Amino acid sequence: MAPHRVLLRPRAVLPARGLGIRSPRFLSTAQSATPAGDSPNGPPKRKPLTKEQRDFLSSALRVNQTGELAATLIYTAQTPPIVNRHPNLRPLMSHMYAQEAAHLKTFNALLARHRVRPSALYPLWSVMATGLGWGTAMMGREAAMACTEAVETEIGDHYNGQIRTLLEIISGWEAEGYEVGEEFRELLGTLRRIRDEELEHLDHAVDNDARKAEPHWLLTGFIRLGCRGAIWVSEKV
Ligand SMILES: [Fe+2]
Ligand SMILES: [Fe+2]
Repeated sequence: MAPHRVLLRPRAVLPARGLGIRSPRFLSTAQSATPAGDSPNGPPKRKPLTKEQRDFLSSALRVNQTGELAATLIYTAQTPPIVNRHPNLRPLMSHMYAQEAAHLKTFNALLARHRVRPSALYPLWSVMATGLGWGTAMMGREAAMACTEAVETEIGDHYNGQIRTLLEIISGWEAEGYEVGEEFRELLGTLRRIRDEELEHLDHAVDNDARKAEPHWLLTGFIRLGCRGAIWVSEKV
């Protein structure tokens, strides 16, 4: 399989913003602000998240949940017309949909657990994702695959940026002698696993002639721009 993942590059740390929401419960794992080195007889201590880190995590969970909702709706709209004309693609479409549905379930649970509200523009994203899925499916198999290629390129990039930020937070804690909570490490593992699955979708799309879509550059450029815009907005509202 071709290594299409070279398209992806890490993104800079997202800006911190006040979102006017309750603090994520990542904080609840914090035990003390005392570094481990200061209390050799006690258990290692965890450092509370800063406001900037809490805002980053809230924003990340919200935008991820929005993106995964959009992904399930894109495949829901694409699958009937594509499978009708190309029955051989049924297993692939089902596989990618099932993974997206699992991603959405994961982020729905994380939003509920950490009391993060979904994007206020949830209905708008739903309509746009369904339209994108249906429209590209009507254009044909190559365009539908180009849609997946474009979306997963942006989403892989997006997850890589979040993973990098989490790693920066962890290395900061470790450098100061703090313990890293299990829940935080779990979140990092979840993001890595989902990122890898998105990149598999990207590979599948390219292997199924995404780059034969006409005009490929315009279609993928337009969709990638739309994804970046949706990510930018969903991080904020
Ligand atoms: Fe996904
Ligand atoms: Fe995906």
